[in-house]
Amino acid sequence: MTVSIKSPEEIAVMRSAGRQAAELLEMIGEHVRPGVTTDELNDLCERYTTQVLGCRSAPLGYHGFPKSICTSVNHVVCHGIPNDKPLRKGDIVNIDVTVIKDDFHGDTSAMFSVGAPSVLARRLSETCYEALWVGIRMVGPGVRLGDIGHAIQAYAEARNYSVVREYCGHGIGREFHEEPQVLHYGIPGTGLTLEPGMVFTIEPMLNAGKRHVKLLADGWTVVTKDHSLSAQWEHMLVVTDTGVEVLTLRADEKQP
Ligand code: MF3
Ligand code: CO
Ligand code: CO
Repeated sequence: MTVSIKSPEEIAVMRSAGRQAAELLEMIGEHVRPGVTTDELNDLCERYTTQVLGCRSAPLGYHGFPKSICTSVNHVVCHGIPNDKPLRKGDIVNIDVTVIKDDFHGDTSAMFSVGAPSVLARRLSETCYEALWVGIRMVGPGVRLGDIGHAIQAYAEARNYSVVREYCGHGIGREFHEEPQVLHYGIPGTGLTLEPGMVFTIEPMLNAGKRHVKLLADGWTVVTKDHSLSAQWEHMLVVTDTGVEVLTLRADEKQP
């Protein structure tokens, strides 16, 4: 396994890509309301990415993905394809954006609710967000990936949610998906040992029901097998000499 160590110059570019991805998510959040279609959200993101940020949308054409963002509504786990169906009050949606700035990727996602969420949807989303941060707060030199996966899994399962196993976080840089794979479950004391300069995402998917998923016939959309609600949050981060720097922090969040 070859995990690249980014130079300070490369990290500076990734910091800028990450900031722009975060800005894109902040922009699109304002537009999530009843009646809007995910196609409309897609088009707003594509325009903002190219015309305001001066970036490219990484998902567009990636292994044939047809749109610029992923929109995963309710029981869709990840990789939902924007479409012309209006969002309805009570829906929850993950919006996952990835921009390319000066050849480097910035990847982040967040949950949004359309109108007021149900108690279950809100608790699922909040638990998933906390699970992401449980993982982030552990990151630092010498920590092993199994330690992080285990902590996320323990946090989620203690609250009766299941962790999706088939999809994971990933190294990122000039490539969208690089080594290592960052699993959101695992065994402490196993896996890759982190070193300063490694850049990767953590992006747990939690289900309200069982962890099993299935892939729809479009070849992209991943749904829960039991049709239970699913949530996901994602940040991109770099291992520093003393801990972690989150590269996709939004204005309402703070660095640990
Ligand atoms: N942004 C997703 C991730 O976090 C990947 C989407 S790939 C796409 O890794 F092709 F579906 F866009
Ligand atoms: Co993503
Ligand atoms: Co990602």
